[in-house]
Amino acid sequence: MYILGGTSAKNVAEHLSHRLQQPLLHTTYKRFPDDEFYIRLLDDITGQDVLIVQTAYPDQKIIELLLMQEAVHDAGAKKITVIVPYFGYSRQDKKFEEGEAISARAIAQHISLRADCVITVDPHKEHILKFFTVPAYSCSAVGSLAKHLREKHIDFVLAPDKGAKERAKEAASLIGCQYDYLEKTRIDGTTVKITPKTLNASGKHVAIIDDIISTGGTMAQSIRELKKQGAKSVAVACTHGLFVGGAKEKLLSAGCDEIISTDTIETEFSKVTVADCIADTFLKTAPYIKN
Ligand code: R5P
Repeated sequence: MYILGGTSAKNVAEHLSHRLQQPLLHTTYKRFPDDEFYIRLLDDITGQDVLIVQTAYPDQKIIELLLMQEAVHDAGAKKITVIVPYFGYSRQDKKFEEGEAISARAIAQHISLRADCVITVDPHKEHILKFFTVPAYSCSAVGSLAKHLREKHIDFVLAPDKGAKERAKEAASLIGCQYDYLEKTRIDGTTVKITPKTLNASGKHVAIIDDIISTGGTMAQSIRELKKQGAKSVAVACTHGLFVGGAKEKLLSAGCDEIISTDTIETEFSKVTVADCIADTFLKTAPYIKN
């Protein structure tokens, strides 16, 4: 078996290679002057199982993924497992208004064309797995994030909205502390309103946990609320750290003490790897591979 790490998931691929004790596939790749992508496989993979690891974000990385799949398929791989640590476009998982594209479905269908199986991490909504036309599985980074937060002596976990409540509950139970959640109303793509609520967070080291930090608006509002209520420190933790539109500055100016993210998107805040949860799911779904 080989592991092919794409340009958007090098860290996850290296960790997976180590954890599964399987080699990384050698490749050469470049961009043409017009920015089109080129990839060539350098190892013979005829009859081999191949794990392709690539985050599908931003747009360019989706094209890279499709070309990697094409190359691996044409080179005669036996089984292709596509690991998508962050599945971009997953938030457009339905038609919110008539005339829209169901973006998550469009991307999933294209990935499915040259895949036997797909694994992704903390999709925004689980039902997007049904958009793939091959078996698709998700795994959760909450366990790995909670392990990191426990080492930081976090003693209160907060979900910034009801959608993240189960995640906060699970993290709190793994850490062994209390949790709560806030009521959030999204006004538009960059503005959210948090309904004030008394939290039992005074004097506590709090972690706010969510699946995605995009513009940081949701987290910034929650940090302000917690600081107002006397939290001693506030860390933010997420699986997918997009950090767009000045998110870092927004979080720091709201009083954030630490920003923690996984490596589904590699940034300066990727302090936790999702390789373990992916490896566990892969081993469960491909029992013929020995750990
Ligand atoms: C939305 O439901 C997600 O779980 C996140 O809360 C959201 O994507 C965060 O976006 P932002 O960082 O732009 O507030």
